[in-house]
Amino acid sequence: MGLADLLLDHWPRLFPQTYERIARAWLEPAYAALAEEVRARPDPQAALDYGTGPGSVALRLAQWCPDARIDAADVSDNLLIRAEDEARRKGLSRRIRFGLIDRGRFPWPEARYDLVVAAFVLYASGGAAALLDQIHLRLRPGARCLVVEGLRDAAVADAELFAACETARAPRLLRGALRRALAAQRARLLPRERILAAVRDSRFGVAARARDIGLPLPDRTVSDAFVLLELRAPEHVQPAAAAGEPARG
Ligand SMILES: C[S@@+](CC[C@H](N)C(=O)[O-])C[C@H]1O[C@@H](n2cnc3c(N)ncnc32)[C@H](O)[C@@H]1O
Repeated sequence: MGLADLLLDHWPRLFPQTYERIARAWLEPAYAALAEEVRARPDPQAALDYGTGPGSVALRLAQWCPDARIDAADVSDNLLIRAEDEARRKGLSRRIRFGLIDRGRFPWPEARYDLVVAAFVLYASGGAAALLDQIHLRLRPGARCLVVEGLRDAAVADAELFAACETARAPRLLRGALRRALAAQRARLLPRERILAAVRDSRFGVAARARDIGLPLPDRTVSDAFVLLELRAPEHVQPAAAAGEPARG
């Protein structure tokens, strides 16, 4: 494993501030679009951040939806620890419940949500349609799921993206490895067609809406850096057991 791979796996923990700055430069436009979509509707009663990672979306949801109860789940207990620390630091612990998805088992099997957000999770999951099915199980009738993903086929070169992130001033010694890590991360993203195919193959079947999100670069703005999908649960949702809830125990 080279330094770039090591960084890719461990940089959020080893260099949290560098990671946050780079993540902010790259991902912030996507979070801003999510904020618009979430705020365009009345506050949900219960919202879930599926694949919360370091908690970026859960913490934002707590601010965007001051009246909602917020759950945040992930398969990585390491990242959950970091998310919980961050929630504590920002005084949001009481607003957010964090839980581990352990071997496919959702931490709160009875919970149902009016809003689920999955930000940059499909590409990381290794099975995008199956992941959407798991989200579908958690929705109340008529609820919505907002999915945001970076697009592998976006018209942006790795070097351009790095230049945009470098405006966040990564430490000089780390730059070569960070550049490779960023390129490796981009190479894992899904092309648009794969994302839409996963929706078609899932219980959602079709996206209610798709919106492209742009990314400002130093010299221009790329119009198709991310896609945001709104998925809807039908008004009548199958009971969880019949719809394939993983066995308990
Ligand atoms: C790139 S991170 C995104 C984290 C966060 N949503 C954000 O916007 O910063 C991808 C996250 O998806 C999680 N993940 C991967 N496969 C998953 C699965 N099957 N179910 C839930 N989370 C998963 C990873 O552990 C990781 O935290």
